Amino acid sequence: MSKSMSYFIFLSLLAIVPLCIASKNYNGYLNPQYYDRSCPHVQHIVSSVVSKAVAKDPRMAASLLRLHFHDCFVKGCDASLLLDNSGSIVSEKGSNPNKNSARGFEVIDEIKAEIERACPHTVSCADILAIAARDSTVIAGGPNWEVPLGRKDSVGASLSGSNNEIPAPNNTFQTILTKFKRQGLDLVDLVALSGAHTIGNARCTTFRQRLYNQNGNGKPDFTLNQAYASMLRQQCPRSGGDQNLFFLDHTTPFKFDNLYYKNILAYDGLLNSDQVLLTKNRASMELVKLYAENTRIFFDHFAKSMVKMGNLFPLTGAQGQIRKNCRRVNSS
Ligand code: HEM
Ligand SMILES: *[C@@H]1O[C@H](CO)[C@@H](O)[C@H](O)[C@H]1NC(C)=O
Repeated sequence: MSKSMSYFIFLSLLAIVPLCIASKNYNGYLNPQYYDRSCPHVQHIVSSVVSKAVAKDPRMAASLLRLHFHDCFVKGCDASLLLDNSGSIVSEKGSNPNKNSARGFEVIDEIKAEIERACPHTVSCADILAIAARDSTVIAGGPNWEVPLGRKDSVGASLSGSNNEIPAPNNTFQTILTKFKRQGLDLVDLVALSGAHTIGNARCTTFRQRLYNQNGNGKPDFTLNQAYASMLRQQCPRSGGDQNLFFLDHTTPFKFDNLYYKNILAYDGLLNSDQVLLTKNRASMELVKLYAENTRIFFDHFAKSMVKMGNLFPLTGAQGQIRKNCRRVNSS
């Protein structure tokens, strides 16, 4: 082989290596340019509907961000969460983590309807959830990132998956970490993604136990700031008021910032699952401190972990379908 020929092969290999690395980042299939030709305005349509919805209801940014999480943890990011009850489908909307809680489905419907008008039968509901989660984060003041695209929608839902895979607020630190690891997410992802609780609300019923009877001994959780606890008790009584709403980040409830972590350092984490990030694990504690000190690092890790979560078990290529209506599978 001539010298120039082997040099040419060497150069070609150099060109291929970055492509392989890039496609690995995109889970082998997903990529941010997926709709560039088939639906060039998809990003613009999603962001304009999300902005409008958040202008009308500032909590909506939080609600849309959470939908992507509750979708991805159950059979992967396949929009299974969006299916309503019908025929053989038992909707995930009725699960413990979602009932009386998950919201924003009408906004997703509106985005889907606008996209169907612009590019019929082209953009999946799973991709809409991923883009809407990113846009919600940006609108609330958080980091931006490129969203890998090309997911397909499921033809089924899993109520038991929704009940079992999504962590509960009174799960132990170890159980929560195990549920993240089951998804291929690690401790850094857990601490960074929990930072989503810098916006949005939680109901009394999700943290009442901490106020009155943390360990079944009739005493409050001693890792809860007692001044903050007595404030919470006024609107979250021993019984009744289950659905009363509280800010997850009582300092800057609508701003995506790192004050969630500062609250935790002050024992002002609302959910038990928030506070245990400080109190139950050394590495997790160090990350809480790091993010409380450094917004740039928090934003960087959050964006990376969101891409990682968005890449969980997507349906691609011939798998799944592109639903015409996010609430039901296409009739064949
Ligand atoms: C680490 C384990 C997690 C637990 C135990 C947990 C638990 C909860 C609970 C109990 C609520 C309140 C629900 C209600 O009362 O209606 C909530 C709200 C919320 N969660 Fe999480 N969550 C976790 C992780 C995440 C992740 C990874 C994200 C997104 C990346 C997220 C985003 C949100 C948002 C934005 C809200 C507010 C939603 C709204 O106001 O509509 N959470 N979470
Ligand atoms: C966690 O909360 C659920 C729902 O409120 C409750 O049924 C369960 O007993 C709690 N688990 C623990 C360990 O406290």
